[in-house]
Amino acid sequence: MRSRFTIWRYFLDGMPAYLARHYWWAYLWQPAIRFFDHQPIINAILFGQYQRLLDQTLACLKRCPGGRLLQLTCVYGKLTPVLMQSMDGEPLYLVDVAPQQLQHSRAKSGGESRYQLLPARMNAEYLALAEHSFATVLIFFLFHEMPPEARQRTLDETLRIIQQDGRLVITEYGPLPRTHWLYRFWPSRWLITRLEPFLDGFWREDLAAILQERAQQQGKGVKQIEEYRFFNDFYRVVVFEVTGL
Ligand SMILES: C[S@@+](CC[C@H](N)C(=O)[O-])C[C@H]1O[C@@H](n2cnc3c(N)ncnc32)[C@H](O)[C@@H]1O
Repeated sequence: MRSRFTIWRYFLDGMPAYLARHYWWAYLWQPAIRFFDHQPIINAILFGQYQRLLDQTLACLKRCPGGRLLQLTCVYGKLTPVLMQSMDGEPLYLVDVAPQQLQHSRAKSGGESRYQLLPARMNAEYLALAEHSFATVLIFFLFHEMPPEARQRTLDETLRIIQQDGRLVITEYGPLPRTHWLYRFWPSRWLITRLEPFLDGFWREDLAAILQERAQQQGKGVKQIEEYRFFNDFYRVVVFEVTGL
């Protein structure tokens, strides 16, 4: 007899299993979407760093070459609407596997500018997008929520769709924060890694080295051209340029 509490199965419905299992309560359940998408809540989750991370991400995007921009997965907070305002009427491509998240992003983009948003339901691990079709891809706090295999497939797909000399902008947790009080104080480390079950694995990966290795598999190269650290290295914004070998 099955005795385990399996409410997450109700949310599977075309979603990656890790997303339904570990994050249904954050991204797939309608009351959660209504609860989480408020600036003070998002800011609290990021320990007061949201605005700094947002500003730096937008500044990095401003320096990227012109051309098509993809935001790979929806995010809570004002990133998407603010980004659209900065795009002078150019479309923003937005991909997410959860239709409820895409609908929510569309609704909060509001007004006329919502026509500038081009949302599409896709799994980031298997993008139905052409090779070399984007000048820039933005990934905001996605990788730490993925198991390693999903992260690698998503990196492969991202590198495939970025054109030569295009950019990949990643806003994420920094490397393993051994000296940070949130890590050293075991109750906070326990809580964070309970809520984010793949974060510990992400912390221990060398993102730049993995990107380099995955790019080589596709006959490409990757060069880190900018990096900014926040909150004593707990968070980072990194920009990579995708080059030929
Ligand atoms: C970007 S991440 C987390 C962002 C961050 N916690 C925030 O809201 O600021 C959350 C989004 O990623 C989406 N997602 C997770 N795995 C995905 C996948 N394999 N393909 C596409 N979307 C995915 C979820 O549906 C959700 O909308």
